[in-house]
Amino acid sequence: MRFSSEQLASCTRNYSSELGSGGYGVVYRGDLPNGLPVAVKVLKVSMNKKVQELVRLYGFCFDMDTKALVYEFLENGSLEKYLYGEEDGKPAARLEWKTLHGIAVGTAKGIRYLHEECQQRIVHYDIKPANILLTGDFTPKVADFGLARLGERENTHMSLTGGGRGTPGYAAPELWMALPATEKCDVYSFGMVLFEILGRRRNFDPCHGESKEWFPRWAWERYEQGEIDRVVSCCGDGMEKADREKAEMMCKVALWCVQFQPAARPTMSSVVRMLEGEMAIVPPVNPFHYVMDSSSSGSSSSALWSGSYQSSRDTTAGRNSELSVSPAAKSTDPIIEDVTRADAP
Ligand SMILES: Nc1ncnc2c1ncn2[C@@H]1O[C@H](COP(=O)(O)OP(=O)(O)OP(=O)(O)O)[C@@H](O)[C@H]1O
Ligand SMILES: [Mg+2]
Repeated sequence: MRFSSEQLASCTRNYSSELGSGGYGVVYRGDLPNGLPVAVKVLKVSMNKKVQELVRLYGFCFDMDTKALVYEFLENGSLEKYLYGEEDGKPAARLEWKTLHGIAVGTAKGIRYLHEECQQRIVHYDIKPANILLTGDFTPKVADFGLARLGERENTHMSLTGGGRGTPGYAAPELWMALPATEKCDVYSFGMVLFEILGRRRNFDPCHGESKEWFPRWAWERYEQGEIDRVVSCCGDGMEKADREKAEMMCKVALWCVQFQPAARPTMSSVVRMLEGEMAIVPPVNPFHYVMDSSSSGSSSSALWSGSYQSSRDTTAGRNSELSVSPAAKSTDPIIEDVTRADAP
């Protein structure tokens, strides 16, 4: 049932009978037109500005047999469709690099709002291209925020009670290892989205052969070898110099976002500034120590990764006990401090 503010004012006789107040607002006594007595909690939350980068919720239904949310309709559907098509079909259309870059920046601003600008910080827990919806002119809007607390979902998602949250392939390690999670898990998932934008492919895709099946690690290896150009080339042919520079920045930001240690990942406001070229990017460090064996070549680490990936996909496993964190993952600390400094305004 949706009430207008006029209906609420009428049924509470202009908020004349106060029952009490709590952390979220004041509660008033009221009567619905059919005589049902009600308590109306007026929430203190206020949207102090109209946020362009979030999908608007128009209303909801909470009847006994129907629970539904009514959102604004986004004409172009989800970003997923444009990166690699739904259900492994062909992409709906090939978006220009400039459009994709705008989608990345807009999405980052939407998540920044959830983390840093709204009264109560909201962790999304399920950032992925399917939850980035596009208007008719390809302005992105983040969808499905605030749903993580609704409880168990279909088995395409990790269970909340099993210690894992989010969608496999995008969920940060702390989610599938049942470690404490903060808003930095959204930063990790956003990093995976950036890789998918750069590569115009799913971040993990066995069709690409062993060395390239997990695009983020391939991108790290190229970067480490001084071959970031090869990552940039995935974005499109014949790009202008300025666009190539933006793609390079996007790759570096993505490498920072998917760092194993949540504290090493940047805040979303830093991500926005780095993507917009307003903040220098410290050279990224290896985000994948925890799946890479530094003493051997890619193949063994690939096996390790696919093992951990498989078990993280296993919705019943929830947490991954085989995965050990190598000491190398901790050795990034001095650079983490650099990032923290770089984060400061
Ligand atoms: N407001 C909307 N406007 C237009 N299309 C939408 C809207 N909301 C959802 N869709 C379409 O419906 C699809 C299914 O959405 P849904 O949120 O149920 O699944 P999902 O995003 O793949 O998974 P999740 O449950 O993790 O959010 C989306 O991928 C999108 O194409
Ligand atoms: Mg969704």
